[in-house]
This record gives sequence, C-alpha cells and structure tokens, in this order.
Amino acid sequence: MKLIHLSDLHVSTRDDPEYRNLQHIVDHITRHHQDAAIVITGDFVNSAKASEFEVVREALAPLAEHCRLVMTMPGNHDYKLWGNVESDGGPERFFEFREKLTKARAGYPYVMEINGVQLIALDSCMAANDTVDLARGKIGYAQRMQVADYLEMGSPHTRVVMLHHHPFYRDLGLELVDADELLATLAGRCDLLLFGHRHVSAVWSEVFGVGWIVAAGKSTRADASHLHCRVFELEAGIVNYRGNRIALDGSSV
Ligand SMILES: [Fe+2]
Repeated sequence: MKLIHLSDLHVSTRDDPEYRNLQHIVDHITRHHQDAAIVITGDFVNSAKASEFEVVREALAPLAEHCRLVMTMPGNHDYKLWGNVESDGGPERFFEFREKLTKARAGYPYVMEINGVQLIALDSCMAANDTVDLARGKIGYAQRMQVADYLEMGSPHTRVVMLHHHPFYRDLGLELVDADELLATLAGRCDLLLFGHRHVSAVWSEVFGVGWIVAAGKSTRADASHLHCRVFELEAGIVNYRGNRIALDGSSV
C-alpha cells in the first residue's frame, strides 16, 4: 500500500506562498500518485478561521476526489488562534472542514484498514485546548486506552499511528505532555509513527520499540527549486520509503 505523508500546510489565503506550493503538491500527487493514501498530520491553517479552512479545503479537494484516501488530524493551529490562544469554535470549524473534505465524521482515534495496513489517526490537540496549554499537545487517557485496544485488534500486516505533535522533542510550550505514556502504549505494537509540528524533517529507526518514527517538515515550504514529501510502501510489515521531490516549475516526478 502506498502512503504519502504531508504536514503543517499553514495556509491562510490564496496569496500565500504556502497556497501556491500546496497547489504544486496536489497537482503532482493527482498526476502521479492516485493509488496512494494521503495522510496529513495537522496545521492545515494558521488561526482556525473559517475563511482559512475554506481556502485550504479548496486546494486539497482534488486529493479527496482522485486519491485512494485522505486522512486528516488536527494541529494546534487548526484549533487555536496563532496556534496557542483558545479560539471559540476552532475545533468545530476543523471538524466541519474535515467532514467536507474527507466525509469522515467519527471522532478520534479514527481508524481505517486498507490492504492489511491499519491506520490510526489521533487528536493531540483537544485535550490541550486551553490558552494556558499554549501550543502543547495531549492525547489523554481515554484516547490512549482506545489506541491500545485498536493495536490489539485484527491482524493487519502493518500498523501506522499518526498525530500532529512531536512525541519526544520536549520544546517548552510545544511539547506533547503525555508523550511517555503514548510511546509506552505503542512500544512493540506499532510499525510506523508519523507526525509533524516542529517543521523539521527526521527519521528514526527502532527507538522506543517502534519500527520507524518519521517527522515531516513543513510540506508547503520549498527549498530553492523543490518541495519535499515522503512516499511509503507498506507491505507485509515492511516499511520502505523514499523522499519525493516536486519541482516548482512542474517538471519533475
Ligand atoms: Fe503545530
């Protein structure tokens, strides 16, 4: 099963470079990777505003229309003003955006299985939604217990867990406060853990008892000539991935 990981789009208006870059990404994926499941680990927008969600939804719509699956989960910027100030109705606006884009209605953990790959999406923002929490994340006891149950369920060949917050980089005010508990829940039972939040791309193998741990950078940030994302191939419990370069002039694959 092919999976593409995007994160931290941070789109507010059609004039943003992030919007143009997202159009390049969506165009590339719909041309070359319609067979992929697309997972987007939060921070779609900057300040949880309805107008922002409308713009980013419009940009992402071709993925939902043409690709195998689009799975989303919230980042702190999707619930809060500037990512750290509680916004009245922010979570509701995210859920409305998500339902319009992906048709998903159920809460988190949101779980799907495709071709033997179990995909578990978490909400790391709802339990840390007060202004005093700043940009921190929390999974919470109830969600962790549900994750533990899902990780025992069925017999998928590969189990993938996804969330917005970085689970072991403890930046003050940005950290996932129950990261230790989450990692203990995943140990020995998760093949691939995906997240974003810090805008720093990185890969770890066989740490915390998890097969592969992968942080996406800010997907809508280009270097001089390219955008970057990872394409995973998940077969029989084996995780393969490659870095995918998307030319800003539309030329490359
Ligand atoms: Fe974030």
